[in-house]
Amino acid sequence: MSNDKGTWLITGASSGLGKSISLEALRSGHKVIGTTRDIPNAEATHAEFSAKGGIWLELDPSNKDAYDHFSKCFQKYSVDVLVNNAGYAFIGAVEDTSEEELRDQMEINFYGPLRTVRACLPFMRAKGSGHIILISSGAGFIARPGRGAYSASKFAIEAIHESLAQEVTNFGIKVLIVEPGAFRTPFSSRIITPKQFEAGFSEGYKGTLVENMVTGSRGLKTIPDYFRGDPDKAAREIVKATTSEQKYLRMPLGSDCVAALELKLGILQADLEATRPMATATDID
Ligand SMILES: NC(=O)c1ccc[n+]([C@@H]2O[C@H](COP(=O)([O-])OP(=O)(O)OC[C@H]3O[C@@H](n4cnc5c(N)ncnc54)[C@H](OP(=O)(O)O)[C@@H]3O)[C@@H](O)[C@H]2O)c1
Repeated sequence: MSNDKGTWLITGASSGLGKSISLEALRSGHKVIGTTRDIPNAEATHAEFSAKGGIWLELDPSNKDAYDHFSKCFQKYSVDVLVNNAGYAFIGAVEDTSEEELRDQMEINFYGPLRTVRACLPFMRAKGSGHIILISSGAGFIARPGRGAYSASKFAIEAIHESLAQEVTNFGIKVLIVEPGAFRTPFSSRIITPKQFEAGFSEGYKGTLVENMVTGSRGLKTIPDYFRGDPDKAAREIVKATTSEQKYLRMPLGSDCVAALELKLGILQADLEATRPMATATDID
């Protein structure tokens, strides 16, 4: 985007990072459309949004008809910046996760942003400009125990955006993948765990890293100290990134996320060195 004021569409703008990004974009003079599944609730929890000129749109990106609704919205509003933010985390062992639970996770974290992106592209291409921002996660590049489903949804949607960034660069469209670490939002209070196990894990995972992850994540009444991320500061960096030259695809946010990214890069490098002789022995003579 240029320095001109534009129109932003933010999914899941009622709470957490979406709420902060919506306020920062409004403060910067942009027009903002925010989606929520429940406008009366959003009005109650984020009253500043309408008061500052934000426009609510009742829409659930996880519904199969969301593409049509988003398409109508992009016809009505000339959107310059799309922020795919709506999402939740499913935490549970791979073995304990039902196919239905995995599909539900994919509907919002993978198909939701994909529907929105596909609906906006014809309009952004016609304009020859646009910015597509994905709120992914540190879990979008490192898959920890108990986070298989959540990471699968974020890895998969990051792959789509990595490919997309190269496909649309010549159309004047930019893509940014934001990877937050642990930020102080109501995110933890919405974590879902395998419903067939009351404790959130089956007997076999008692005393394992899965139990630690499940019990340390779900139903948290207060935000733990190790959640160091400030959503308002994240919002400032994201809005600023749209006016920069943006010579990167991924933007980790939070020092915990930088450490996780470094850990993963080290693991990838070690795997590569350990397997290089085998890998290079398989080319045809
Ligand atoms: N907070 C963190 O530590 C953290 C870390 C890494 C990544 N993230 C990512 O940041 C994004 C925003 O999370 P947040 O921390 O701001 O959490 P949040 O406060 O819970 O906000 C999530 C938003 O997504 C919408 N949403 C939640 N579940 C949904 C569902 N099943 N279907 C449709 N919409 C749904 C909600 O909108 P309505 O209820 O109004 O529809 C809500 O506004 C997510 O994609 C998350 O994966 C967060």
